[in-house]
Amino acid sequence: MSVSSVSTEEMGEQRLFTQRVRAVTHVFDHRPLAYTHSYGCQQNVSDGEKINGMLAEMGFGFTDSPEHADLVLYNTCAVRENAENRVFGNVGALKALKQKNPDMVIAVCGCMVQQEHIAERMKKRFPYVDLIFGTHVLHRFPELLYTIYEKRRRTVCIPDCDGVVAEGLPVRRDSRFKASVPIMYGCNNFCTFCIVPKVRGRERSRVPEEVIAEVRKLVSEGYGEILLLGQNVNSYGKDKGVNFPELLRRLDAIDGEFVISFMTSHPKDCSRELIDTIADSRHISYHLHLPVQSGSDRILKAMNRHYDTAKYLELVDYARSRIPDIQLTTDIIVGFPGETYEDFTQTLDLMRRVKYDSAFTFIYSRREGTKAAAMDDPVPEEEKGKWFRELLEVQGSIGEKAYEKYVGRTMRVLCEGRGRTDERLLTGKTRQNIIVDFAGSDELMGHFADVKITKALPWALVGEIVENNDKKENVK
Ligand code: SAH
Ligand code: SF4
Ligand code: F3S
Repeated sequence: MSVSSVSTEEMGEQRLFTQRVRAVTHVFDHRPLAYTHSYGCQQNVSDGEKINGMLAEMGFGFTDSPEHADLVLYNTCAVRENAENRVFGNVGALKALKQKNPDMVIAVCGCMVQQEHIAERMKKRFPYVDLIFGTHVLHRFPELLYTIYEKRRRTVCIPDCDGVVAEGLPVRRDSRFKASVPIMYGCNNFCTFCIVPKVRGRERSRVPEEVIAEVRKLVSEGYGEILLLGQNVNSYGKDKGVNFPELLRRLDAIDGEFVISFMTSHPKDCSRELIDTIADSRHISYHLHLPVQSGSDRILKAMNRHYDTAKYLELVDYARSRIPDIQLTTDIIVGFPGETYEDFTQTLDLMRRVKYDSAFTFIYSRREGTKAAAMDDPVPEEEKGKWFRELLEVQGSIGEKAYEKYVGRTMRVLCEGRGRTDERLLTGKTRQNIIVDFAGSDELMGHFADVKITKALPWALVGEIVENNDKKENVK
């Protein structure tokens, strides 16, 4: 099967099922409550916001605890084994709740169950799970839930296909200030360690007009941060005649005060055009998350990443020359099959050379069905653990001083919540996506303010609000 758009007729059918579920739950003696949790990446969290949107339209309210829920749903991640173990543990813990309340509906969806062997394990080990559905049928959630209520029969729906694009699903956003907007789904890169292409299907982009209309609406509703999502945003629009920098330029033309950020940017097709677009923009975040994975060209090749360290460093240097304030972050895997200590020290060298503001670091996790799973992996876990700790130390000492250059400067900050360093403070983010805590009134929540930086921590800034000033260095 190939990638396709879900037709308006099909979406209309789902709206009918939404009404039917509403009618079923309407006769409950109370408003039905849902507890949902999404694991994994921002894309999955964004899917979770759609699930919650559909639930709200089906008449559900929401609760923070599974004990009070009529429906518990886990939207799962398969990227590493420990993510999967957590889900098995949490689903296992629902058994007692289901015994107490047999009417409770338990659903598990997302990347983990898109893998056949996991879906089988889930079915056998947890007979009390009512609904299991894969990543390609998210939009059919109302229909699937209706089947459960109507037929009281366990339902499993995990079609294997290249993926679909479903427009017009309702979204219940987690934040009033920050909105995620997927611009593409799936991945065609097949990095040898990664399960994502297998569970998320082939790369497919939303049409630019849909994305632009959504962002325009969000900005008019007062969202200050728009986060564009894709496993590799740099390959956006290959079949749409509009590449990612062009999409960014069109979004940047929207008036209002807001910041556009995006993730993830794969180095293999991160271009000078992208960097120039950020540098010349009014709204685009000065934050580039550019996962390098390894500093060894031999390992990068084995990972099928399609770039080498020379190309990567050239991009970093160009980005720093065009945008001196750019915040650079990365992902790194330690202990890929066949990696030697010599390879690993090349990763340390690269980190010292680039001086990342922060790094997300992972020990390699074997994923069944990937190419790397069949490779020789002789280094013991204990040894990999040692390397991992060494890496954390090196990054720790690099990151410690990264923000000091901002002390004394006045920065434009989007205020998003309560302080991270102190509950009595407010917290916000700069255009570089750096956290800033400062004293201020709750009315500032969701708005931009000018903050003078007084102190730099390794992971955040602290500052004071500047009254009556017109210095706006962040948003032109
Ligand atoms: N699409 C993004 C990455 C998505 S997964 C990109 O290509 O940059 C997020 C991160 O998880 C990856 O960057 C990688 O560092 C890590 N990761 C993915 N598979 C992994 C595995 N099998 N073991 C350990 N880390 C993994
Ligand atoms: Fe996985 Fe590579 Fe695709 Fe990222 S680009 S999702 S690491 S296969
Ligand atoms: Fe995990 Fe799926 Fe995202 S595997 S990282 S939730 S795309």
